[in-house]
Formats: sequence, C-alpha cells, structure tokens
Amino acid sequence: MSPEKTTTVTVCPVSDLGPGERLIIEHEGEPIAVFNCDGELFAIEDRCSHDDGPLAEGEWSPADCTVECPRHGSLFDLRTGKPRTLPAFQPVRTFPVGITDDKITLEV
Ligand code: FES
Repeated sequence: MSPEKTTTVTVCPVSDLGPGERLIIEHEGEPIAVFNCDGELFAIEDRCSHDDGPLAEGEWSPADCTVECPRHGSLFDLRTGKPRTLPAFQPVRTFPVGITDDKITLEV
C-alpha cells in the first residue's frame, strides 16, 4: 500500500480565528470546519458520519471541544472526530492543523 499524499491548504491568518471561533472552508468541493477550542486548533470534515448533516453548523463548546450535529444531535469530539453519543457511531475525518508564517494550514 502506498502512503496517501497530502496537500497543504492555507486557511486564513491566525488572527482571523480567535479562541471560540470556527470557520468552514471548502477544499475540492468538500466542506472542512476549523475550530479554535480556547487556543487549540482542530479540523474535521463538515459532514456528519450518520446522515451527512452539516456538522459544523451545530452548537459547539470551545471548552469541551465538542460539536453537536444539528440534524439528529450526536455529539462529536473535535480532537478525535469520534462521536460521543448516538445515533452516529462512526468517526468523521480529522485533518492535521499547523501554523506557517502566521497562517493556519491544513494537511488534506
Ligand atoms: S446526521 Fe448527524 S446525527 Fe444524524
């Protein structure tokens, strides 16, 4: 099996995504959400693993680092992409986040 190649995507200046803020971007037609959980940055695919709900549009907690799917209410851990509550039981993809030259970047 060959290792999957990743692409580095620049999201925005670090100063544009402060603690408690989230941002949804699109990469090759796929929505990806970036969250600033009280200073730590995490990125997940913005598509619920249960029924394709717009996950990142749900209520989220910067302190707990979780987001609640607005469609059926599964609570996802933004650090791991894993659901903590049903009905979703499969994780969503996560993406490594970095900072280069004061800009937030993703490996997708
Ligand atoms: S689509 Fe997200 S919990 Fe059903």
